[in-house]
Amino acid sequence: MISFILASVFLSLAAAHLPYLDAQNSHNSIHTAFSFPDNIYSRALLTTTTCPPRYYNHGNKTHTQPATARAKPWSRYSWSKVYVGGDECLTFEFGVPHIPALEYPSFRPTVYLVGECLPPARAFGYPEPQPLEYPPFDLPSGYRATALRFHLADPIWEAEKIDEPRLDATLLSYLNYSVPVKCSGEVYIVVETHEKRVVEYYVAVGELEELPASTAGVATLAEARAWAQGEDKRVGQYCPRRGIWERE
Ligand SMILES: *[C@@H]1O[C@H](CO)[C@@H](O)[C@H](O)[C@H]1NC(C)=O
Ligand SMILES: *[C@@H]1O[C@H](CO)[C@@H](O)[C@H](O)[C@H]1NC(C)=O
Repeated sequence: MISFILASVFLSLAAAHLPYLDAQNSHNSIHTAFSFPDNIYSRALLTTTTCPPRYYNHGNKTHTQPATARAKPWSRYSWSKVYVGGDECLTFEFGVPHIPALEYPSFRPTVYLVGECLPPARAFGYPEPQPLEYPPFDLPSGYRATALRFHLADPIWEAEKIDEPRLDATLLSYLNYSVPVKCSGEVYIVVETHEKRVVEYYVAVGELEELPASTAGVATLAEARAWAQGEDKRVGQYCPRRGIWERE
């Protein structure tokens, strides 16, 4: 059972993911990937995407930007990472809040696993992710990673509806696996949205549903609830049409 908890001494723990919020998709590159502190405790990163800024030129990697924006270019990707030991399993989930603003069949992000020690595609059972020789995003030169793609736009991927009483919300869980890795190393989980709207999704890792020693950065129950219920007015809204989108 997926479940989110408040890092509060008042709540008893039953089944739980510790929630972390990224309300502006600030973990949008391999260099700014959200780092799950360990592969043990069950934690979820709750992401809200943003619209591309005015100057963003889709498909043009050499686009120019104002100096202030250079440090953190917009991207359609969200990155998180977790270090998995060679004798451990990668436990991860991916899903979206089941809310009217996001409720239409074409809302299907693509999820990638990237790393040097990934499980083979067949370890995931049916439907299998696709091994990619060339992932669509840039990786640091010399980083000999492989990638697996979960192409959720393909209807063979079915979501499971999960009632989440603590958040007073329902989630659609698309991916939920626990698979052994081939060696010790960092595993990146990358989410790509194809939406021209602001959307939300979560990535979770870890299995142990208990409170870790450090809960630094954990969101409150109220914040997790607001996210799961799509309270942010931006969620579901279309981005202003600009650049290449303008011509579609
Ligand atoms: C994920 O899989 C585990 C193990 O099969 C199961 O106990 C759990 O309920 C599943 N969670 C979701 C959100 O489907
Ligand atoms: C990409 O952007 C640069 C700088 O804005 C421009 O000079 C170049 O022509 C663009 N290339 C394409 C293919 O649009």
